[in-house]
Amino acid sequence: MRLIVTGATGFVGTEVIRLALRNKAITSVIALARKPVEVPANAGPDADTSKLKSVILEDWTKPYPESVKEQLKDADGCIWTLAVTPFKSKDMDFAAVTKICFDYTVHGLESLAAIAESPFRFVYTSGVTIERDQTKTLTFLADYRLMRGRVENAILEFAEKHSPAIQVTVAKPGGIEGPGHPKSDAATSIFAQFGPTPWVHVSELAAAMIQQCLDGITKEPLWGKDLQEIGSKALRQEDYVPLTG
Ligand SMILES: NC(=O)c1ccc[n+]([C@@H]2O[C@H](COP(=O)([O-])OP(=O)(O)OC[C@H]3O[C@@H](n4cnc5c(N)ncnc54)[C@H](OP(=O)(O)O)[C@@H]3O)[C@@H](O)[C@H]2O)c1
Repeated sequence: MRLIVTGATGFVGTEVIRLALRNKAITSVIALARKPVEVPANAGPDADTSKLKSVILEDWTKPYPESVKEQLKDADGCIWTLAVTPFKSKDMDFAAVTKICFDYTVHGLESLAAIAESPFRFVYTSGVTIERDQTKTLTFLADYRLMRGRVENAILEFAEKHSPAIQVTVAKPGGIEGPGHPKSDAATSIFAQFGPTPWVHVSELAAAMIQQCLDGITKEPLWGKDLQEIGSKALRQEDYVPLTG
């Protein structure tokens, strides 16, 4: 399969790239980013680094240039981790955050769907706190959580209109632990407000999203416990990235 990954320089995207390079069922890993994407430093000897292709996109809201489309065409799946996280959004203008989170993603799905293989599976990384119901009054980060909820609604609506060629699922983890991202009590208590929400190991999250692209979407949304279950089944012990060291 040919897999496109966005957000490939970030915490989650780097792990998706690392695991995809180790996965023999994936023949090509196309990192779509605004700057060059390198093989992760921790790729290890099992990685087929020749599979990684870094494709630069400068303007994410205009029609994708032909030279970019040529490199993205005929993909079977995409894992979209590009976003501004709530923490980083605090220092940014909300219109800019909306453009990156909403416009880039919705335009991205539409652009990729037009040149992809059928079926094309699109796995979107969101979070447990993100709210789809636009009538709800939220007590914290209301604008951000509703805006990201509109992204989920828009891509699911697109998939419904273009079913079965286009298939979408949304990963909604709570805390994600990984190298340099330890569990925190403060985050645990926030996520607990949304029901039982386990911390998900970043390798399990990445493996679960890859598995949904490869073998077919089995559930929407994918909550933390789903991601843990699917990801842990897909991973061998040696595939987990160490949390420390
Ligand atoms: N981290 C967590 O604990 C956590 C928990 C729950 C859900 N999530 C969700 O998981 C997803 C990934 O999070 P993360 O922690 O991996 O985020 P991250 O480390 O901040 O990575 C964000 C990625 O988005 C890209 N990006 C941001 N602004 C961009 C722009 N203007 N143009 C092009 N690319 C841009 C970044 O690229 P550059 O390097 O070019 O900036 C980077 O690759 C997000 O949707 C987040 O809300 C994260």
